[in-house]
Amino acid sequence: MRVNLPDFSMAYEDHGDGIPLLLIHGFPLNRSLWEPQIRELSAFARVLAPDLRGYGESEAPSGVYSMDLLARDCQAFLEATGVNQPTLVCGLSMGGYVALAFYRLYPERVAGLVLAATRAGADSEEGKSNRDKTAAQAREQGASAVAAGMLPKMMSSKTYATNPELVERVSDIMSSASVEGIVGASSGMKERPDSNELLAKIRVPTLILHGSDDQLIPFKEAEAMHEAIEGSRLRLLPEAGHLLNLEQPELFNQAVQDFLASLDKKTP
Ligand code: MLT
Repeated sequence: MRVNLPDFSMAYEDHGDGIPLLLIHGFPLNRSLWEPQIRELSAFARVLAPDLRGYGESEAPSGVYSMDLLARDCQAFLEATGVNQPTLVCGLSMGGYVALAFYRLYPERVAGLVLAATRAGADSEEGKSNRDKTAAQAREQGASAVAAGMLPKMMSSKTYATNPELVERVSDIMSSASVEGIVGASSGMKERPDSNELLAKIRVPTLILHGSDDQLIPFKEAEAMHEAIEGSRLRLLPEAGHLLNLEQPELFNQAVQDFLASLDKKTP
């Protein structure tokens, strides 16, 4: 399905009924990251999974894709698809940065947060210079070169060594990203603000999920968010890396389903 937003056409999935569950993919991925979640969780929620600008089948305007811009795209998408009630916002990695930006911009639109394989802090100086290198590599050698460099770290070392099908799938997803998408999101992540101060202001139920062998974002980042977000829950998924939702889909889905059930109980 597609919807025309002010400056690009966005592709998305929309399945099931009930509380809206917005799934925001990471970098440099697309909505097919969420295939196991769309399949299973649409029995319990209205699952909405957009391709962010520059990714999947969405158009790829050029420019800096700040996390606020991507969050505003998500809100425009929810409006365009008739979602008026507060939404459960779930983001993985860069999707988590966007989820935090979404909460900062539209706290009243958020029923709950699921922060997967992500962090609240801004990039270090070294991280910022790596963003420039990623953007340059995309411009000079294309998305496949970026994908090939990132691939081994996207999963746990065990998944990478033993699940060639998943490795190939993830490689295909990343290689299909547009150069504009990689450049835009790299520059956007480079300039993203530190969200640590926001954490203490979060007043919605929050679930934090992390893989035990995440090679890109250390578990201590998840623990720090858990400590800072009042009442949040933290689940460490075993034998999973950065793409924990694909590496441990049953455990990931069960954790989100339990979280959904707990939100239902709180509704008067
Ligand atoms: C992602 O998976 O979205 C990226 O690894 C996030 C990042 O590069 O900070």
